[in-house]
Formats: sequence, C-alpha cells, structure tokens
Amino acid sequence: MKNFRALARNWLLVLLVFSTMSSNPAPQLGENPMSEVIAALTLEEKVSLLLGTGMDIPNAPADMQGPVVGITNDRVPGAAGTTFAVPRLGIPSMVLADGPAGLRITPNREAQPDKTFYATAFPVATLLASSWDTDLVEAVGKAMGDEVKEYGVDILLAPALNIHRYPLGGRNFEYYSEDPLVSGKMAAAMVRGVQSRGVGTSIKHFVANNHEWNRNTINIIADERALREIYLKGFEIAVKESSPWTVMSSYNKLNGTYTSEKAELLTGILRNQWKFEGFVMTDWFGGRDAIAQMLAGNELLMPGTGVQQKALMRAVETGALDQSVLDRNIENLLTIMLKTPVFKKHKFSNNPNLEGHAKIAREVASAGMVLLQNTTQNDTRALPLKPAGTIGLFGNNSYQLVTGGTGSGDVNEAYSISLLQGIQAAGFSTHSLLEHTYARYISVEKAKQPAWQPFIPQAPLAERNVSYKEVVAIASDTDVAIVTIGRNSGEFADRKSEGDFYLSKIEKDLIATISGIYHEQGKKVVVILNIGGVVETASWRNQVDAILLAWQPGQEAGYAIADILSGDINPSGKLATTFAMKLEDYPAAENFPGVVLEEMPPNERSLFVQAKRAEVIYKDSFRVGYRAINTQVAFPFGFGLSYTEFSYGELALSSTQFVDSITASVVITNTGAVPGREVVQLYIAAPQNTLVKPAIELRAFKKTRRLETGESQTLNFDIGLSDLSSFDADRGSWVVDAGQYTVKIGASSSDIRSRESFHKKKLSTFAP
Ligand code: BGC
Repeated sequence: MKNFRALARNWLLVLLVFSTMSSNPAPQLGENPMSEVIAALTLEEKVSLLLGTGMDIPNAPADMQGPVVGITNDRVPGAAGTTFAVPRLGIPSMVLADGPAGLRITPNREAQPDKTFYATAFPVATLLASSWDTDLVEAVGKAMGDEVKEYGVDILLAPALNIHRYPLGGRNFEYYSEDPLVSGKMAAAMVRGVQSRGVGTSIKHFVANNHEWNRNTINIIADERALREIYLKGFEIAVKESSPWTVMSSYNKLNGTYTSEKAELLTGILRNQWKFEGFVMTDWFGGRDAIAQMLAGNELLMPGTGVQQKALMRAVETGALDQSVLDRNIENLLTIMLKTPVFKKHKFSNNPNLEGHAKIAREVASAGMVLLQNTTQNDTRALPLKPAGTIGLFGNNSYQLVTGGTGSGDVNEAYSISLLQGIQAAGFSTHSLLEHTYARYISVEKAKQPAWQPFIPQAPLAERNVSYKEVVAIASDTDVAIVTIGRNSGEFADRKSEGDFYLSKIEKDLIATISGIYHEQGKKVVVILNIGGVVETASWRNQVDAILLAWQPGQEAGYAIADILSGDINPSGKLATTFAMKLEDYPAAENFPGVVLEEMPPNERSLFVQAKRAEVIYKDSFRVGYRAINTQVAFPFGFGLSYTEFSYGELALSSTQFVDSITASVVITNTGAVPGREVVQLYIAAPQNTLVKPAIELRAFKKTRRLETGESQTLNFDIGLSDLSSFDADRGSWVVDAGQYTVKIGASSSDIRSRESFHKKKLSTFAP
C-alpha cells in the first residue's frame, strides 16, 4: 500500500510537470514575442548567440580557438563562419560567407566527390564602379544573391566600400572608388540586388580600413570632417538607401579606439543618426575587448573564440557587464535572423544558374572596362581592331589573366577565360609559336613556385624577357601587338611602389621594344591593363597606340576584353579613381602607410595581431583623389573614351535661386558613328565662406541608355540640400553656405562641358 501511494505520488508529479510543460512550452522564435524568447535563454546561450562558432585554423594559438570545432565545414565548406543555434527555442544557426566579387566557398567536398560547388567570379568592385551603372551592379547583386541562397548561405560578407585613399592599398580592388558618392551608390545597388533574393549582406569594413599594413593594430587618426565627408559618407548612403542586414566593423582603431569597440561609431552614428536596424559583426578576430564590443553595439563577434566566450560569461557573473546589454544585442541579431533562409527553412538546391550568371559577369565586365587611350593614324583609330589580321600576344598575363584579387575577396570559379581564348573565340588569329613559347615559360616558372596556400598571396611570375630578335620575327608575321600587364594583391599586404605601381624594367622594356619594332613596320600596339588598382602610365603611354584598362574582370575576362577589342561592345566605363602621374602626387603619399610605435606586449599578440603598434595621421583630411588632384594627372577621375562621340547641350537649371532643391537638365547626343553609352557627371563648385572646399565635388551621375547614332537623351539631376553640404566640425553639423554655386556637367572631372550658377540666400545647417 505504502508503495502504491508512493508510486501514485510520483505519477502525479510527472503529470503535473507535463501539464505545466504543455500549457507553457518553450517560446519559439518567430511565434512568440521576441522578449519571451530572450527571457527563456540561459546566460550561456545568450553569450553563445553573440559569438560565432569558431574557425578551424590548424595549430591556432589558444586565443584564436573557437568555442566548438567543425560546424562551418559541416554546413557549407569554405564559408567564413557560422553562428550558434538554440534549437529548443527555434533559433537556427546562420552561415556567413565572403565576398565582394562573388561567393567564396570550397568547390569540392570529400563526401560528394561527384559534385562541384563552384561560384561565379564576377569582376572586382573597382571595375563595377567604373561602369557607373547602378542597375547593372544591382543585377550582379541579384545573381550573387541567388548563389548565396542556393548554396545554403544566409549572409554574404560584401560589399566592401572603403575609400581608395592611396593606390598602394592592398585591398583597393575590393573597394569601389576614391569618391564616397560613387562608393555609396554602388554599395547600395549591390545590397539591393543581393538582398532582393532574401539573403543578407554585410557592408564592410566600417570604417577607414584603407590599408593592410599592421591592419590589426593600426590607429587611424582622422579629423571629423574627413570622416563625415569621405570615409563615413559611402556607408551612410548605403545604410540609408539599401538597409543592409549587417555591417562589419573594421580591424583598425579610429582615433584611439578599435572601431568594433567604439560606441560613438556603432551606436551613436550608425544606429542613432543613420537609423541602422540590422546588426554589427566584427571582422574576423577584430578588436581586443569582447565586453567593450558588446557595450559599443557590436552584436556578433566573429569567428568567435573560447576566450571571448569565457570573458563575457565572467563579466556578466561578476556584474561587470549588465545582462540587458546582451539582451539588446540578441534582439538586434534575432530580428535579422527572422529574415534568413535558414530560419525560413529554405531548401537550397546546391545548383545555382551558373551559366546564366556567367552571361551577366561578361556583360558587366565589358561595361566597366575603361578605354584610356586610342590614337588615330591615317584617319583610323587604333581600336576597335577591324580588320584585325593576326595578333601577336605578349605578356604573361595574355595567357593567364588575373580575374580577381587574393584573400577573402577571391572566388573559386569553375574556369576563367584567358585573353588568348577570348580573342580566338572572337575570330582573331594569333601567333602560335609565340603562344607555345609563353605556355612553356609559364609552366616552367609555375613549377618553381611554392605550393598555393589560402590567404598567402603568391608572388607573380617574373615577366618573360622577350628578345629584340624575337619581337622582330613576330612583328613581321603579325599585324598588331597586344601587351598585357597584370597585377594582383589582396589581404595582409599592401602593394609596392617599384615593379607594382611603377612598371618593372622588364615590362617597360617589353613595351618599348615592341612599340619601336611594330611602329617601324606601321603596325599598332595595344596595352591591356589587367590590374586591381592604379599603376603609373604617364612615362610609357605615348609609346603605344591604345590602352584598355580591363581591371580584374572576373571569370569571363578574355571574352569581355575581346568584346571591346572587336568593337562588338563600345566601351563606356570611366575611371572612379584618379590615375596620377606619380605616387607622390597623391596627398596621402606623405604618410602612407604610417609609422610603427612600440612593441606589442607578447600577451596581446596573435596570429592576426602584429608585433608592433602603428599609427597613421590622415593629414590629407578630405583632400582625397580628384578633390586634391585633377590637373596634371595621367588620366583624371571620371575619364574614359568611347568608339563614338557625345555632344553635351546647354545645362539648364530649374531656378537661379536655391530654396530646397534644384533640377539640372542636359541633353546628350551621340554624334559619332556607332551606338554607345555616356557617363555624365555633375560636379558642384561651392562658395568658400564658412569652410574651405575642394574646387569641385561630384554630387550626382547618370549613364545614358544606349544611344544610336544621332540619338539624344535628356538627363535630369535633382540636387537637394544635402548634396551641397560640407561638414563643419566646430558646429558639429552639416552646413550649406550662402553664396554662388556653380553646377558643372562634365564628361570627366577635368572635361567640363557646360556650367550654370545658382544662388543660395542664407546659410543652412542640419544635424548629422
Ligand atoms: C577579412 C574580411 C572577411 C573575413 C572573413 C577577414 O580577414 O578582412 O573582409 O570577410 O576575413 O573571411
């Protein structure tokens, strides 16, 4: 009996527990109010949600080891990271993957030897920006977004939109422009495209991540005006115009504090002033102090380490960090989580439309190439090559184009089209002996290179030394010479001056020898620049007939270059970054990359954190690119040639007095012989009353549709108050001076075709 009673009591207890459980089940994300989900999380779960699951780095030092191992690889091999799941509350784990030129994942998986997981390598950001075509960039974003979604990834770690402050920045190829308006508009278009597919983006690296040298310890010292007008502006445009799901804080310190630990930046500016509604993640292993990062509003620490996990647990347990901070951050993170494919249980196909995307990659590649030079002889232009005859293809890169940069900006594409393949497919004939000589040279030199390792940029192959005799022989067998000059760079290192910004002696000799011999025979020489950032051109450009800036054009590289060489596509790209005569002409030359300070204490160093502290003062302030130099340059900002010509009509303004806004209109006519598109730029010269201002600033741009010969298009530009503003650090606000403003419509920053002035009566100010 006693036993029976005990048994009955136990059963009652079990029933009671069950009934409370079924009447009060654990709240589920998306079904119950967010506050209930957050309240149901244990402290350990809360901390976990704010960290990535870690990164598998062989032999990583203790402070870089993740809280758990292998999760990302189980989900999408080659992705950059994953977040923790809390299944009992319906919180899944998100997958995050690079990057700006396309999805970066591993193409082969041991478990599925018969299947490949290639992604499309689109052209690098510098090329995309040179198209000045936000619709096309949005189309690229859509295609990238499809691949992200169909390979099971939730957030693409792109676009990257730091400013080209100086040509030697190792990651400039991942970034759009020296100008914040171009950067912001391009990034916004990319975000809109990617996110239209129901996956997220991470605009990066917030902010002032302008070089790789000592990138994890460097302190950027910049004045507020430079930050507001140049370095923050593009991010501001992207946040306001495209609502990216996430922002990635940068590695560097800004005015003494790591950006990932800077509340004034992540909460004050980003969230409060710009009304950002997503979440912020660190760059991989960025910053030092997990508690400061949480307080600053950096919601997710990537890739996540065990050390951070312990530090946050301890901080809450000892009262050093209030749990409400974690709750606030989790709310921001889970709000985005609700939109992800993984939360929506999207069944990804692992089979995106790579063929369709290759077409987009080809189209955008030619749209962003810039024809820098095209001389005329006997009434014919050097390009297009019609009729072509036989082409002598010189330069290693003619046989293996650089499709994109290295590091996290790299993409594992299924193939890439060389220039040789591209021009052969376009019906040109080439010199087969020359091909064989290059092929042999490249394979011998490649065999000498150390094995490829992820994240370690390989030194470029030495350019083949072509003898005078060889060129003479080839010149007599061919009708035109193409010389391709290539450059590559990426994470961890900036570019060099000699042999990189400046052409090497072998390259200069190659151009000089080929030009001398071909010209003697009345034949043309075309240089293709297959580069990610600016190179010096002033010293050699007069030796050659045409220069096509092909940038790093993605996997369809050879086809896209051939489309322009053949004239199938009329070039319409223009420079979004200044090609100066020499490095010293850029104001940043004075203090790039910066100075080394004291040794880091050994306990603060890691695989990522260099041994020394460093700092750089941005003495150039807002004087970046064409704002400082647009005369005496090799090729100015906004410049690019076409196979046709355009005339610009008189600029008409809707009023001569500015109240709230003004509309500028101009008629563009194709006056040449072939159809084409023109990039039209609107610059403003503002009165220099309250503040000193650059001579001109780009305030709007548009690209015409494809205009047939003789066809015209009217372009209208609306100019609002913010388009006239400069930042007054003393007032802490944007100011628009009273006085006379001149609107200048140009084909480039130094080719102004029409101008008109208006007047503004009173000074206006508005809060940032
Ligand atoms: C880069 C980021 C990238 C991240 C993840 C970092 O080294 O700076 O741009 O998104 O790695 O791969």
